[in-house]
Amino acid sequence: MSETTPRAAGLDFLYRPITVEMEATTALLKERLFGLDPAFSEYLDHSFRLGGKRLRPALTLLCGKAAGAVDRRHYLCAAALEMIHTGSLVHDDILDGARFRRRLETVNARWDSQRAVLVGDLLITRAFDLICECEDLALFRKTAECCRATVEGELLQVDSIGNFALTTADYRKIVGGKTAALLECATHMGAYLGGARGESLAAFERFGAALGIAFQIVDDILDLVGDEAKTGKTLGTDLVNKKETLPLILYLQNASEAERTATLSRLEAGVSLDERAEFAAMLTASGAVDAARAEADALVDEALSIVANLRETGEKTARSEESAQAFDALEALARFVVKRDK
Ligand code: IPE
Ligand code: IPE
Ligand code: MG
Ligand code: MG
Repeated sequence: MSETTPRAAGLDFLYRPITVEMEATTALLKERLFGLDPAFSEYLDHSFRLGGKRLRPALTLLCGKAAGAVDRRHYLCAAALEMIHTGSLVHDDILDGARFRRRLETVNARWDSQRAVLVGDLLITRAFDLICECEDLALFRKTAECCRATVEGELLQVDSIGNFALTTADYRKIVGGKTAALLECATHMGAYLGGARGESLAAFERFGAALGIAFQIVDDILDLVGDEAKTGKTLGTDLVNKKETLPLILYLQNASEAERTATLSRLEAGVSLDERAEFAAMLTASGAVDAARAEADALVDEALSIVANLRETGEKTARSEESAQAFDALEALARFVVKRDK
């Protein structure tokens, strides 16, 4: 990892209750990714350069602090989830034919798909080594479940390519798997290791799930109307690859018969990246982008009310001050998810 993350300044501010813990997690990631076999360092270094937002480790660490105390197992899980996430992105870039990620060429663009399949696998299998070190079968099971759900979500989406009759329920199912499962796993692991059990643990998990769906809705909006200079990744691939996402679903549901027919025939014939701006303008003017954003806002409100409830019911302990700061950061992170432009 030749360069660490110049993350959005706003995120560093949000992560300040876990500055030390995030550094420890990054150190562990470096040690475990580059300390093993130098033959693969080039690929792994490339995949991790500029690092991304590190949202999943931050959730694990913040939920750990909110529920109780953070220990070494949190670092192992946080690093493992970031490896799984990055591995899934390396794979996803093959599926989407994306050329840029985290401001660099994707693994498939720089090398080829063969290497991208294997580099993604390498990241994911190394993650399991870290989970094993926690010596807790419950964590291992949770990680396996989360990987299965992520892959199932991506597979469902591939199976839905070219299907422009998706319902919002179909969309929720895809997104619940491909994105929310990992955020749910991150909040679960952090809280579980912090000592949460029963209803409290389930609430942390629901927080992660709601946030995960909101996060993907915003990602899908950005794919349409976002700025590549800000996101640092190829945008417009959902349209080009005929992956119907929430703004388009809502547009087609509310369009007149003539608009629907015209748009469907363009989509079915195939849209190029150059047409992204035109689709963005059309969906924005129709109100579909705002309607999708409203769904994300509602999910974030749900996430915020879960946090409020967890705060109230949490035991007051000597760590209450640290816990309160972690809850503050979780709330701010939930708000960031819908405000972000990267
Ligand atoms: C991108 O995730 C893939 C989605 C689930 C939308 P992030 O937006 O968290 O990617 P990085 O880690 O910051 O690069
Ligand atoms: C993929 O969703 C999410 C994963 C689980 C890998 P996207 O295809 O929308 O993610 P980006 O936009 O490429 O980051
Ligand atoms: Mg993609
Ligand atoms: Mg996307």
